[in-house]
This record gives sequence, C-alpha cells and structure tokens, in this order.
Amino acid sequence: MKIIKTIQEIREEIKKHRGQGKTVGFVPTMGYLHEGHLSLVNASKKQNDITVMSIFVNPVQFGPNEDFEKYPRDTQSDLKKAETAGVDFVFLPSVSEMYPEGYKTYVSVEGITEVLCGKSRPGHFKGVTTIVTKLFNIVKPTRAYFGQKDAQQVAVIMKMVRDLDMDIEIVSCPIIRESDGLAMSSRNVYLKPEERKAAVILSRALFEAVDLIKNGCRNRDEVIEYLRKRINKEELAQIDYAEAVNAITLEDSALLEGRVLVALAVRFGNTRLIDNVIVEVV
Ligand code: PAJ
Repeated sequence: MKIIKTIQEIREEIKKHRGQGKTVGFVPTMGYLHEGHLSLVNASKKQNDITVMSIFVNPVQFGPNEDFEKYPRDTQSDLKKAETAGVDFVFLPSVSEMYPEGYKTYVSVEGITEVLCGKSRPGHFKGVTTIVTKLFNIVKPTRAYFGQKDAQQVAVIMKMVRDLDMDIEIVSCPIIRESDGLAMSSRNVYLKPEERKAAVILSRALFEAVDLIKNGCRNRDEVIEYLRKRINKEELAQIDYAEAVNAITLEDSALLEGRVLVALAVRFGNTRLIDNVIVEVV
C-alpha cells in the first residue's frame, strides 16, 4: 500500500494505472476507520482493479461550534486497517494541500441539502460537496463508494454527480452495525457508557417503524409520532429530527409510497448520532 500526501503525486500514480486501462474505485473517509469504512473498501475491491482511500478530516464541513478540533484521529491505526483491507493507495493530504491560502471556490447543491441534517448543520453539505468534488477531480475514479449510514450525503452526492455531469458511478453500501444494532460511527467513541447503552434506541425504534410500515401503515405522521414516543422514553435521548421522506428526492409527503427513507438524528449529551432505514412501500 502506498501512502501519498500531495495532489501531484497521487495524480501521477493514478494516471499510470488508468493509462493501462485499469478501473479505479475510490473510498473517501475522515479516518478513525471502523468496519463501516472497510465494507466500502471490500465493495470497491470487488468491482475495480485498484482501490484508493482518502483520509482527510475536512474542516469546511464542520460548523463553527462543531467537533472539528476534537474529531477522533488515529492515522497509524487507520493505515494498518487500510492495508489489511487491501487498499492500494491512501491519499492523506494536509489542510493546506486541499485549501491553500486564498481558497475561494465552493460547490453547493440546493434543495435536498436544506432538509434533515441540513437544517441543524447549515453549510455542512456545501463542505461535503466541495471536498468530494475536489477529491473526484484529483483521483478521477471510475466508481466512488459511500455508506447508506449517511443517507442524505449519498442523495446529495448523487444529485451533484447528475447535475454536474460527473462521469463517476456512485455506489451506495449498506449500514454496518454493532451487534446490538447501533450503527458504527467514528463519533460513537464520544459516548459515555450509559449513553452508549441508551443509543441502541435509534436502531430499535427504526426497526419497529419498519414493522409498522410493513404491517400496512402508510401515514407519515403516524410513523413519526411512533418514533418520537419510543425515543422520548429514553431519558438520555434528545431528538434533533425524526422524518420519513422519499429516499431519492428527500421530499416529504403525508402518504408513504415508493422508496421511503426513515431517518433520525438524536443527541446524547454533546454527541449527535444519525441512523436510518429504507423501506420499499408496495
Ligand atoms: P466518514 O464519516 O469518515 O465516512 C466515510 C464513509 O463511510 C461515508 O460514505 C460513510 O457513509 C461511510 N460509513 C460510515 N459509517 C458507516 C457504517 N456504519 N456503515 C456503512 N458505511 C459507513 O462521510 C464522511 O466521512 C465525509 O463526509 C466524506 C464523504 C469523507 C467527505 O469529507
């Protein structure tokens, strides 16, 4: 596995491989790797000749009062995990490599970035679409892999790729969970032991909401009410949002139909966790 820190060097490496007709799979991450990230690497390795991972905690996607400074970082352990998983190139740029002094250009997707997480994290998706565009321009992947854990991020990236005619296939991969159902996340380390126990309520409530829908409920408000009641029983949990929307457009409709995304953001102390499920309503 090669570790590369500059844009020029990764471009040269990838050019060689693409010149030989090889396909390039790309897994962008902010590091502190867990099985969720590594599942994206596995998916990429199955479909591409080489797999590139980026590890970059992107300051632009964090709000002024968010956790950029204290976001967990462990590069040495990440590199071991990436190598074991079979990553060919790790792109590990510095902040000044990605955003040199005088940096002024941003990519923003309207509409679907203004709902769900976009409401409580203004500017977050602009930071994501900007860094992902830059990384796509640097790595020039054939396919890029994203986790369904961040369902809105996937929807936003897919919209950006369509709208800007980017020649990249976006692959969305299933959520990897701990044995009790908690969706894996680098931010789970922030949870105090009692919060960690309580956090299982997110996946429980979501799975129960799926049952509710599968048993015939088509009423969005009823599903949301169910989620709210169930989560509010957990004293440590503070709901940021509970929503059921169209999984592709993220549009709201009182009648649930088609591919429905049921999504939650819940705070435990200072830690904000997200989780979701997708249900095909037939
Ligand atoms: P990060 O939170 O490190 O996540 C990197 C990728 O791993 C994302 O596509 C995310 O959805 C996926 N992922 C995280 N937890 C997962 C889980 N439990 N199961 C499956 N996939 C999971 O998302 C970002 O970084 C950044 O916004 C980034 C896209 C790198 C841009 O900075």
